[in-house]
Amino acid sequence: MGRLCDYDIDRYARKLKGMVTDGRYRHSVGVMETARALAAAHGADGDRASVAGLLHDLARDLSQGESDALWARYGLGAVMPQPYGFPDYGAGVDASIAHSYIGAAMAGDPEVLGITDEGVLDAIRHHTVGKANMSLLAKVVFVADYAEPGRRYAEAGMVREVASTDIDAAALMKLDRSIAETVRKGRMAAVAAMAARNWLIRGLGGPGAR
Ligand SMILES: [Fe+2]
Ligand SMILES: [Fe+2]
Repeated sequence: MGRLCDYDIDRYARKLKGMVTDGRYRHSVGVMETARALAAAHGADGDRASVAGLLHDLARDLSQGESDALWARYGLGAVMPQPYGFPDYGAGVDASIAHSYIGAAMAGDPEVLGITDEGVLDAIRHHTVGKANMSLLAKVVFVADYAEPGRRYAEAGMVREVASTDIDAAALMKLDRSIAETVRKGRMAAVAAMAARNWLIRGLGGPGAR
């Protein structure tokens, strides 16, 4: 049976190492391992979760200038969800958000990694903000990014524990915390993050679900 991508993890790891800091590389390996474990716990494909986990921050160490240039080169203003909810954001999306969308574009670019597995690319694409209707694979990577063992904040262990049995509840915990942090810092919040949160609460039957 043909595989959706070649899962050449060694080649991906070498490429990644040349594109991110050492600390980011360690985080990426942590996310890969956590994503593999969560995939096993929830019946997702471990190889695909590993590839997406390893590569999710491929574009995280770009400068804002490099990020803006790649955002334009890949035409992402025309195709990506509008993170801030207004139509004229085209250029200049904050690199802390843009890296997810740029990372997916680079991973799929034949001149960078040439990954053709749309599910893997989608998990990379939505690992920061999330979105409504995320696949299981995307949720696994979304949660693994927040909860890998190298994360120093206290919630990481708790989210990891919840995630082993309830990936939706763990994804909701990440969204609650990251949205609260964004508000606390006075930053613009991504509308897609709120849509993801509402979608999870509805699925979990939480307050206001109806
Ligand atoms: Fe990231
Ligand atoms: Fe990350």
